[in-house]
Amino acid sequence: KPTYRHDYRPPAYRVAHVDLTFELDPAATRVKASLQMERHPECKEGEPLRLDGEQLILKHIAIDGQALESDEYTLDDDGLSVRQPPARFRLDTEVEIAPCDNTALEGLYLSSGMYCTQCEAEGFRRITYYPDRPDVMATYSTTVIGDKAGQPVLLSNGNPVKRGELPDGRHFVTWNDPFPKPSYLFALVAGDLKKVEDRFTTMSGREVTLQIWVEEENLGKTDHAMASLKRAMKWDEETYGREYDLDLFMIVAVNDFNMGAMENKGLNLFNSAAVLTHPDTATDAAFQRVEGIVAHEYFHNWSGNRVTCRDWFQLSLKEGFTVFRDQCFSADVNSAAVKRIEDVAFFRTAQFAEDAGPTAHPVRPDHYIEITNFYTLTIYEKGAEVVRMLYNLMGEEAFRRGSDRYFERFDGQAVTIEDFVDCMAEASGQDLTQFMRWYSQAGTPEIDAYGEYDYANAEYHLTLRQRTPATPDQPEKAPQHIPVRMGLVGTKSGRDLGLSLEGESLGSDGVIHLREAEQTFVFTDVPEAPVPSLLRGFSAPVQLRFPYSREDLAFLLANDSDGFNRWDAGQRLAMLALDDLIAAHRNGVEKVMDPRVVDAFRSLLERGGDDKAVLAEMLTLPSEAYIAEQQPLVDVEAIHAARTFVKQSLAATLRDDFLRLYQENESDEPYAPQPEQIARRSLKNVALGYLMAVEDEEGVELARRQFEADHNMTDVRQALTLLTHSSRDDLAAPALRSFGEKWAHDSLVMDQWFAIQVTRPQTDALDRVRHLMAHPAFSLKNPNKVRALVGTFVNQNRINFHRADGEGYRLLADVVIELNRLNPEIASRLVTPLTRWQRFDEPRQELMRAELERIRAEKLSPNVYEVIEKALA
Ligand code: ARG
Ligand code: ZN
Repeated sequence: KPTYRHDYRPPAYRVAHVDLTFELDPAATRVKASLQMERHPECKEGEPLRLDGEQLILKHIAIDGQALESDEYTLDDDGLSVRQPPARFRLDTEVEIAPCDNTALEGLYLSSGMYCTQCEAEGFRRITYYPDRPDVMATYSTTVIGDKAGQPVLLSNGNPVKRGELPDGRHFVTWNDPFPKPSYLFALVAGDLKKVEDRFTTMSGREVTLQIWVEEENLGKTDHAMASLKRAMKWDEETYGREYDLDLFMIVAVNDFNMGAMENKGLNLFNSAAVLTHPDTATDAAFQRVEGIVAHEYFHNWSGNRVTCRDWFQLSLKEGFTVFRDQCFSADVNSAAVKRIEDVAFFRTAQFAEDAGPTAHPVRPDHYIEITNFYTLTIYEKGAEVVRMLYNLMGEEAFRRGSDRYFERFDGQAVTIEDFVDCMAEASGQDLTQFMRWYSQAGTPEIDAYGEYDYANAEYHLTLRQRTPATPDQPEKAPQHIPVRMGLVGTKSGRDLGLSLEGESLGSDGVIHLREAEQTFVFTDVPEAPVPSLLRGFSAPVQLRFPYSREDLAFLLANDSDGFNRWDAGQRLAMLALDDLIAAHRNGVEKVMDPRVVDAFRSLLERGGDDKAVLAEMLTLPSEAYIAEQQPLVDVEAIHAARTFVKQSLAATLRDDFLRLYQENESDEPYAPQPEQIARRSLKNVALGYLMAVEDEEGVELARRQFEADHNMTDVRQALTLLTHSSRDDLAAPALRSFGEKWAHDSLVMDQWFAIQVTRPQTDALDRVRHLMAHPAFSLKNPNKVRALVGTFVNQNRINFHRADGEGYRLLADVVIELNRLNPEIASRLVTPLTRWQRFDEPRQELMRAELERIRAEKLSPNVYEVIEKALA
């Protein structure tokens, strides 16, 4: 039962206005809906009306006040059809639903005793009968009736317009949302919540009330989210000219939430992990994540809500664009270079893997079975890279003209990716026909590059060859339009040389456009032999290979004017050494550390003057997951051994430098999530990681002291991680125990406590996972717990998840089978590592496939079914 993009038809009936009334009850909530409906002028008379509805008990249905006879409509598992409605009418329905049984966390559910909703993508149909598709946009009035004692706070979208008392200790609030919206942006919250309030004055002088609603004990954890929200509001005014439109903007923290957060109109719902912070409980990374997600959801008010998607195939229209917007925001308010490095490191690990696996799909897919399976790294992050390429192709000003045009032209409409790209093409005068392939072709383009310096003619010849590998149902690919930002760094001068291409000057940092399968670019007037610095800033989401020597890479690491490519040169250099060590491990040959890598690291440590945050990134080795992504066949043990060896060799040889780095960056100033402080902490903690890699007394003492000083969660977590991951149980056990006791009351900190233990490289990690699943703080019904314990283990503890005896696979399949019943969305996400079986050796392939088969034998949700079928196809 797949849905195909080409089957799109406009809705036969539109909804002008919706009136909803909720009488809340855990097991039997009543939902009355009154829809003002109109047949589309181009639709023929007598066209049946189709409404979506799942797991609803219909109590009443009437048209224009007249109850329908049983032969006037039909009910089935996923909806309701009304045989021959008039051209204009009012449809009244009443249904009963059971929020307390809703473990899928889609529709209306209970979380820590609070009622809340998640409607994107197709959750509204679990609340009431409705044309639950994003191209049906209506204004909403919502009355929420609840218990005064249990639900003193009753929230929905828009502005509160009426409230009052009812008999039996109940009360109600009516909300009005004047902006037409699709049903996926509907939200309701009811519970015992407390708020923190602030104000924002918009650029046109309107006063907006900002509220963050949390459980009472979390009132002290909202400052950072509030500050981030105000920064985001200002940034969107300055950068995109976008102003907030309602008088009230609310954020609610929810403990049980499938994703990070949701941009419901005027009432954003957040996973508590994505909004609550405190120096004692959240790391720098968590602070930055909160800032980014708050901004992301806020930015959706324009890119997503005011202008929304015609159908779910266009999901990247709002998500890719909004991720690009939040990335730029975070870059502007933090270290831009580090933001880019982090995003790209993650992208090249996780999105490349998705693009190379059995669930690969284009940024705009052609078909799906279950849309929640398509909230992917490809839709979000690759979609953002595609928008970034447009931005870079057009330049800041033209891009802004294009986005203004887009928001003005399509305000209040549900549109397509073409509509967006058309605005960009018009604003820039560029032909983006070939560029559109980025939306239709799956798979990561691979570029093989090589260059030659012609001394006699002072020319540099750069040849680029592109190829996109076949992906499921796309055997053939056409060449992409790939913007390659680059420089030629003179080997004598150490500087960028001017780029002159076919008589045109590109400056010293220019963009060449690869459009053919193969192209040679001839640069003239090149006065000295250069090393090319290619794909600066990761100017396109491609895999680029160039036969750099280690000397070239060390040279770029020291001299490239592009900070991103300096980092990348370091990563490439480390990769070459790692490749040798992986081979040595496989062949049982003694491992020898490449002195050129040691020298390169030493120069980094000695040269000073670098942005500390960037330096911390440059001193960080590629992750095991990234190394694996670069191998033709993943050898889990060899990768782990090689990386550990490099880390220990660097630690042993450069011990004094790391010690000095640690001491130089120690500080006892009061914690603030400020870029300079964050940079110092990451540098110090990278140094501590090396010092602990050899576990000598001094390193151990520093880690212990840092743990006990208890200065802030960033430092405590790194120290605890290093103690827990050490081979000495006398270090791990006491630290874990005291931390676990201290934070037993704080669910978000306990998530970190789980994650830290299950990433232990020691062989007891898997037993710990099983053991901790019985811990009172763990619950399979809470997605954060599942992610912290099981998700972290299967994704970040590769050496133990891929145990040769297959126990890791068995554990994952056990959990997926249980979650398939409880929460299909989480189940189908969690199973991902098993779907990558083709990347491993024969015995592991078989073990992994056996577990996939075991899952397949269950009665599967559409979510898990779709993923398993693709994985076994
Ligand atoms: N639109 C939300 C965001 O990106 C994500 C909602 C995802 N919903 C889901 N059921 N997967 O901000
Ligand atoms: Zn989003």
